[in-house]
Amino acid sequence: MPSATDNNPAILFEDVEKRFGDNVVLKDLNFSVAKGDRVTLIGPSGSGKTTILRLVMTLEELSGGYIYIEDDPLAYEKRDGKRVALREKHRNEIRKRIGMVFQQFNLFPNMTVMENIIEAPVHVLGMSKADAKAKAQGLLDQVGLADKANQHPLQLSGGQQQRVAIARALAMDPDILLLDEVTSALDPEIVGEVLAVLRQVAETTDITMLIVTHEMQFAKDVSNRVMMFDGGHIVEENTPEEMFSNPQEERTKQFLHAIV
Ligand SMILES: Nc1ncnc2c1ncn2[C@@H]1O[C@H](COP(=O)(O)OP(=O)(O)O)[C@@H](O)[C@H]1O
Ligand SMILES: [Mg+2]
Repeated sequence: MPSATDNNPAILFEDVEKRFGDNVVLKDLNFSVAKGDRVTLIGPSGSGKTTILRLVMTLEELSGGYIYIEDDPLAYEKRDGKRVALREKHRNEIRKRIGMVFQQFNLFPNMTVMENIIEAPVHVLGMSKADAKAKAQGLLDQVGLADKANQHPLQLSGGQQQRVAIARALAMDPDILLLDEVTSALDPEIVGEVLAVLRQVAETTDITMLIVTHEMQFAKDVSNRVMMFDGGHIVEENTPEEMFSNPQEERTKQFLHAIV
């Protein structure tokens, strides 16, 4: 819970660099996200948005710099002026505070909806199966899927699968939720049901959110900041109202013009 005396950012990027072979995707990237912030990342395909989220989720190895989660170094720390890799155990500990929902749902197809949701609470947090199931049922209720607990993911529509994925992320009680184009793989008429669930999460929790989306109305409704990326750099940053109605940079104008 954020409090008035606790001003540590939820997420801090310090001189972050990410390379894939010779391809420098992020370089000298610095930004911070306050607790409870909802930050939308926009920018053309290949600008590094997914890489930023995957670095926070420790799904990618940092090539340089530091990421801090509530002041705790995530994967590397400074020790006597040196950059030192932190152990897997430490990374896993910090990652417990972070949930991620992917474009392609990434549910376990061989498990039921209930099994998908309780997997991490039971195996990562050590919750009892009974407690995890009770919590999962409440979350399924919340996302409108109370009657789907015993189904398998492939028996569900894309929108339903994505709502299960949201429930699965929330089952860990994350401080930070990462959403990577969670409606991009869905038929247009189904997008609304997923965004409605996320709007409700945004309204009823103070979870810090990093959101990659092309849904500008959704970004306006839930986020308080928008950062425009191009080539791994922040082109400009503003409130959604200003960014979408009055972009300052030519690159942002072009991008916004192209997606609407
Ligand atoms: N696993 C990977 N291996 C090699 N290159 C990658 C990998 N993931 C991303 N990239 C490269 O990183 C750049 C940024 O990609 P990404 O973060 O997915 O951008 P965005 O999400 O903004 O479309 C692209 O040039 C992409 O080809
Ligand atoms: Mg992406």
